This record gives sequence, structure tokens and C-alpha cells, in this order.
Amino acid sequence: MRAMKRIVMLISGRGSNMQAILRAAADEQWPAEFAAVISNSADAPGLVIAAEMGVPTRVVPSADYPDRASFDAALQQAIDDFAPDLVVLAGFMRILTDAFVLHYQGRMLNIHPSLLPSFVGMATHRQALQAGVRVHGATVHFVTPKLDHGPIVSQVAVPVLPDDSEQSLAARVLDSEHRLYPQAVRWFIEERLTIVDGQVRIQLPVDAVPPQALFSP
Ligand code: GAR
Repeated sequence: MRAMKRIVMLISGRGSNMQAILRAAADEQWPAEFAAVISNSADAPGLVIAAEMGVPTRVVPSADYPDRASFDAALQQAIDDFAPDLVVLAGFMRILTDAFVLHYQGRMLNIHPSLLPSFVGMATHRQALQAGVRVHGATVHFVTPKLDHGPIVSQVAVPVLPDDSEQSLAARVLDSEHRLYPQAVRWFIEERLTIVDGQVRIQLPVDAVPPQALFSP
């Protein structure tokens, strides 16, 4: 049996993706240890959820640091104290320095609420509505220095309905995120993901549901 993987999750707010991952890991008995949940904000509601679910929490307050480099250095130290195999960004709303990202190259995942490469950055649901797309969604990807551009692990598509507001569309996407992200993290800890020429290959067992079947309406 493979060794337990150590995971550190970074959050800035609500933490619903973090919670979905913790729930799936417990329900499915993943060979994973959640070493810590770290937030850049002491007010992040997700910290309470993490503590309730028995995961150690830390705060590295971004407001206390004069610039990105000093914050990222402190954050890196806090993360590395837990010696993680994987860093999971779960609604971590910070732009990261290249040095930080390169330190975790190949072992840091992010979820972004759009079908990348469409709609990078913030307010992705507003961007989708303004563009008039019929299909929107979410993407799990490895993090690389170029914002929201790393190798894609998996995506989920949802329809954009005629009466959608930013809120209704966000809720539909978020619901899909809660299925998409746990699966991608599980693939990582099961060592099913490799990056070949900048693209992710997924090695699934022969009887597994193929990734295409995960695209959901
Ligand atoms: C999620 O929709 C996630 O995709 C998004 O923030 C939300 C966090 O919600 N992430 C980004 O926009 C990253 N650029 P959560 O805290 O409830 O998981």
C-alpha cells in the first residue's frame, strides 16, 4: 500500500470546497492526512469548519506583511512546517509570487470557477454572463506562475440558463465544484496524475468511470 499523503489546504473564506474534500476523504477513507488548513485571514469562516472536523488550523495574516514576497515567504514557512506532499488551494484569494509557486511546482492544485482558459481572474460568473456563453463551469489545475493557466486536471460544465443571475450561476458552479475537486485531489494522492509536455495524464483503473462521464449538466 502507498504511504499516506500529507495535505495542507489554503483558504481565504467560506471553505466549502475544503469541507467537500474533508468529507470525501473521511467517507471514502483516503490514504491521506490533513496536516493543516491555513488562512490568510483570521476571519475566514472555513477555519471554524476545519477545526470542527479535527484539522489543525493556522493563520498567516496577509495584512501584516508589507509586500507579496514577505507574505509568501512566511506562508511557505508555515506550510513547510507541516511537510506536505500536496498543497490544495481552496478559495485562496491571493496572487502568488513566482518563487512560491515554483517551490510547489507539481504538488499544488487550485480550483477556478470557470472553464479555463476562459475567464481568468476575478468575477468569473459575471464575465461568463457578459460574454453570453451557454456553458460555464469549473477547472482543477496544477498551479504555475502564469495566473489560472497551469495544466488542467479536470473540468465540469454547467449550463447557463436564460434567467441566471451571477448568484444563481455561481451556486450551480459551486455545487459542481464540490464534486470535481475531491475527485481530483483523490487522483493526486492515489498517484494517478502525471504531467507530460505540460498536459495532465490521468491513469485510472480499467473499471473506473471515464473522466468524460463526470461532465455534468
Ligand atoms: C470557489 O468558487 C472557488 O472556485 C473560487 O472561490 C470560491 C471559494 O469558495 N476560487 C477562485 O476564484 C480562485 N481564483 P469556498 O471558499 O466555499 O470553497
